[in-house]
Order: sequence, then structure tokens, then C-alpha cells
Amino acid sequence: MRSAPLGFFDSGVGGLTVVRAAQHLLPHEDIVYLGDTARVPYGSKSPETIREFAAQDVRFLMDHGVKAIVIACNTATAHALPALREEFDLPILGVIGPGVEATLADPDTERVGIIATRGTIRSHAYQHALAQRRTGLILHAQAAPLLVPLIEEDWLEHPATEAALHTYLDPMVDKGIDALLLACTHYPLLMPVLRSFLPDEIRLVDSASTCAIHLSEELSRLDLLNDSTDPGTLQIHLTDLSEQFEMLARRFLNHPPGKIRRATL
Ligand code: DGL
Repeated sequence: MRSAPLGFFDSGVGGLTVVRAAQHLLPHEDIVYLGDTARVPYGSKSPETIREFAAQDVRFLMDHGVKAIVIACNTATAHALPALREEFDLPILGVIGPGVEATLADPDTERVGIIATRGTIRSHAYQHALAQRRTGLILHAQAAPLLVPLIEEDWLEHPATEAALHTYLDPMVDKGIDALLLACTHYPLLMPVLRSFLPDEIRLVDSASTCAIHLSEELSRLDLLNDSTDPGTLQIHLTDLSEQFEMLARRFLNHPPGKIRRATL
């Protein structure tokens, strides 16, 4: 099993930020990525629909012989992780646990801001996981549905994005937060702009890099690390192919995505 690929899936191409972090940390792993671009976004859909789509995504990856699966999507992790673990017999990791651990890595963190899609915020998955791990935390959770389209439009430093960020974040910044959890695959791209206007003492936590660290630890614990010394390969499958998605894939991955295949679920 060690030489089998890892499977990653997301509602679209945002999960490639998690793949990029994983490639950096695990350069010898082969990766099969599925982006459900025909049905993106998941963030505004009902929990039942998200669970149904996520199960189809897992089946697709299992048909490609993967040894473990990373749900590289906060919304799908929030709604589907326990159900998927129950239904499928292979290691399935999500982005929420690692993001929560990274947020609480600083023992002095008491006030946490969370931004995510509507679906993730409404699931309360982050709020429950954080509150379970540390009592007395003060949480400010804010749905930020405009950020995904603004990032996809590449309006990272655009006044419209800055205005949206201020609208979403100013109230929690005014109340006081020690850390801001970027609980959506797309948000790591906002790091520079967030850093430029948030006070220095607010720590930014992104789930992409913390998930890659957790993945590496889990593979080692399960004795599933690839022994190969060859560079790992990346195969991207999307349920809808368009120039826009190819361009986005390149931006999220930060390198050319190679040949993208059309997937049918
Ligand atoms: N990938 C989703 C997430 O991380 C964002 C895009 C969507 O709403 O599907 O929550």
C-alpha cells in the first residue's frame, strides 16, 4: 500500500492549496486530486447534499487505488467527515482537526476568530472542536461568503476585497482576538493582504499547511509513507473543465498543473 497514491478532494480547485502544502512536505508521494468543479460551491449547499457529493468524491478516489484520503475542503470536512469514516474502510483525514490544533498550539490563545463559508460556520464544527479542546475560549465565528468569488476573480488586493474583509473582520478585531482561523481552502491566498491590515499580535492560522503536517504524521504512524525516492506525481481530475478552472488551478498550486482530466462521478 505504501506506493499507492494519496487521494485529495475538494468542491473545486481551492483544495490545491492543501495539495501544494502536502507536496512540499511529502515530495515522494503520488497524488490523485478530484475537484468537483461542476457542482462548486459546496459552502452554500445543505448538509445532506454535501454528504452525498462527498461520498461520491471518495468513491471516485478509491477507484483510483488511493491508500488514504484527505478532504481538502472545510465545508465537506465540517459536514461529512464522521459519515465518510463510518462508510469507507480507509484512513480519511479532514482539515478541521489540524486547524484546531494549530490554533491552540499557543497556550495563551483565549480569543479566536473564525472565518469560513456559510456551511462551515453553520455546522459549528470548528466552534465545537475548539470548545472541546479548551474551556473558556471566546469564539467569534463569521461566515464570509463573498471571499471565495473575490479570490477566484484574483481580486486579492482590490478595494472590494479590502472592504469585504473589513466588514467581516472589524467587529471581531474590535472585540479582541488572539488568533484568526482561516477556515476555507481559498483563504491562504489572502494571507498577505490580511497581514497588511490586521494588528501584528493577531496570529493567522491556515488549515492548508497544518493539514499537510497532520497528514505526514498520520502516514508515518500508519506506516504508509512512500519509500520511493522519485519525485511524486500529481494527477488532477475535475468534474467540469474550463479555462477559468485551469487558470485557478495554476494559482492555487503555484506551479503548472499538468494535464487536467475530466472526471465523471
Ligand atoms: N472548498 C470550500 C471550503 O473550503 C470553499 C468553496 C466552496 O464553498 O465550495 O470550504
